[in-house]
Amino acid sequence: MINDKKVLFSAMQSTGTLTLGNYLGALKNWVNLSDDYECFYSIADMHSITVRQDPATLRKRARALLILYIAAGIDPQKNCLYYQSQVSGHAELAWILNCFTYMGEMSRMTQFKDKSAKHADNINVGLFTYPVLMAADILLYQTDVVPVGIDQMQHLEICRDIAMRFNNVYGDVFTIPEAYIGKAGAKIMSLQDPVKKMSKSDDNPNGSIYLMDDPDTIIRKCKKAVTDSEGCVLYRDEQPGVKNLIDIYRSCNDLTVEQVVKEFDGKGYGDFKMAVGESVVSVLKPLQDRVAELEKDKAYIDGIIKENTEKATYFANKTLRKVQRKVGFPDRIR
Ligand code: TRP
Repeated sequence: MINDKKVLFSAMQSTGTLTLGNYLGALKNWVNLSDDYECFYSIADMHSITVRQDPATLRKRARALLILYIAAGIDPQKNCLYYQSQVSGHAELAWILNCFTYMGEMSRMTQFKDKSAKHADNINVGLFTYPVLMAADILLYQTDVVPVGIDQMQHLEICRDIAMRFNNVYGDVFTIPEAYIGKAGAKIMSLQDPVKKMSKSDDNPNGSIYLMDDPDTIIRKCKKAVTDSEGCVLYRDEQPGVKNLIDIYRSCNDLTVEQVVKEFDGKGYGDFKMAVGESVVSVLKPLQDRVAELEKDKAYIDGIIKENTEKATYFANKTLRKVQRKVGFPDRIR
């Protein structure tokens, strides 16, 4: 608990170009959580280097992501927004937790298996121990809840296992985090292959709407979206393309599925796709404008980074010192 509130932690990687899926599925839903939780939103740049990165691009994207957090409406006065690499406790705790994690557990992680297959020429130890760094991220703030997608659920499970194992040896050191079950963000699928998740690493650029796409591009991609020959706007598994467009439309306009189906009853796919495109533009255009505004204000952004890094460091060190003492490291002389 911090300020009588439960602690919530989440992070995103600044690798790749963020998509509408990242926004509607995660970012948009982070905005109002600070009313109920003490929120830490990190930029997981240390996780990013498990795959080779161009340094200048990585640095630029990390800042762009931080600006995007703010542009999306996450208030940097009420939420702690910071770069993982600037709070050294993440690395320090990760090392200790490495010593409480088994090779077998890590080898079983599906993401590790997928990524080693994809980057067969660079199966580094960081990739292997990636979930331990995630566990450190979470446990460092005595986190109560973590909003995660299904793809990260296995990592949250292992984080809980490591925390319980540590607590069994040393007493109640870590809060055991739970998955955040709140208003779930919509899972947005590829526009070209609607049974696959919309992804920043999709080879077909028409499958994803990028957050910085201009209005014409957005409309064009929506018009080209793969549908079916049913010809009716219904929310059914047999019509994955249409279902996905309904999800996009309802998340952009905060509507229910029923409301959308009713609105487009008797209308064709052409009208529907156009309406979807326009509502995506009406969400992304203001976001892009706010990003452009914020990018101009270097001093403001730098100030936020400085303050929030100090805040994160304060809470991180509280946990870290306790852990270091428990495992038997010498006391610090002050
Ligand atoms: N690995 C997560 C992703 O790529 C990002 C992440 C890093 C994270 N640390 C975290 C998410 C801790 C939740 C909690 O999506």
